[in-house]
Amino acid sequence: MELAESLAAIALPCYIANATPVLVAKLLGRTHPLDFGLKLPDGHRLLGDGKSVEGFVSGVLAGTLMGWLLSPLGLSDVSRAFTLSMGSMVGDALGSFLKRRLGLRRGDPAPLLDQLSFLVVALASYQLTYGDLSPLTVTLLLLLTPPIHLATNYLAFRLGLKDRPW
Ligand code: CTP
Ligand code: MG
Repeated sequence: MELAESLAAIALPCYIANATPVLVAKLLGRTHPLDFGLKLPDGHRLLGDGKSVEGFVSGVLAGTLMGWLLSPLGLSDVSRAFTLSMGSMVGDALGSFLKRRLGLRRGDPAPLLDQLSFLVVALASYQLTYGDLSPLTVTLLLLLTPPIHLATNYLAFRLGLKDRPW
């Protein structure tokens, strides 16, 4: 595969999975917290209200659907995209877990963690399952994702989809 194709094959399911919860939570209005409201002994929520069941499930479904759409182009398939989408949603939740342990509130900025936690776990899950990621693809995705994430989040903020520009 060309470099641009392999970047798109990996990035698109991850980005779609990561963006979908924002839209779904906005559309639904009310969502159910993924951590069922659980608080840890440190006094902070396990994940917080920014991670919902509806967001998690819709993210995995939308990212997987992206893989199905890319499959006729030979870029991805349902199973690869499912692995990336699931990894993205777990990574995003892991990012919130770490933010809560640091005492950061829902929506507080955590530079790099906010932009990369979803991608790092997606890439790790993918590599453990398929093992065909090139170091160049990984490096470029890690470098390109933070600016893309910041730009799309700012756009979502301007469109009224997010309360904060990050
Ligand atoms: N969202 C969701 N379920 C998820 C992920 C995101 O419902 N699994 C929705 C929430 O409405 C969330 C919004 O998408 O507020 C933006 O996501 P994100 O920036 O990841 O969450 P934050 O609200 O910033 O929370 P945190 O501080 O935990 O990252
Ligand atoms: Mg956020």
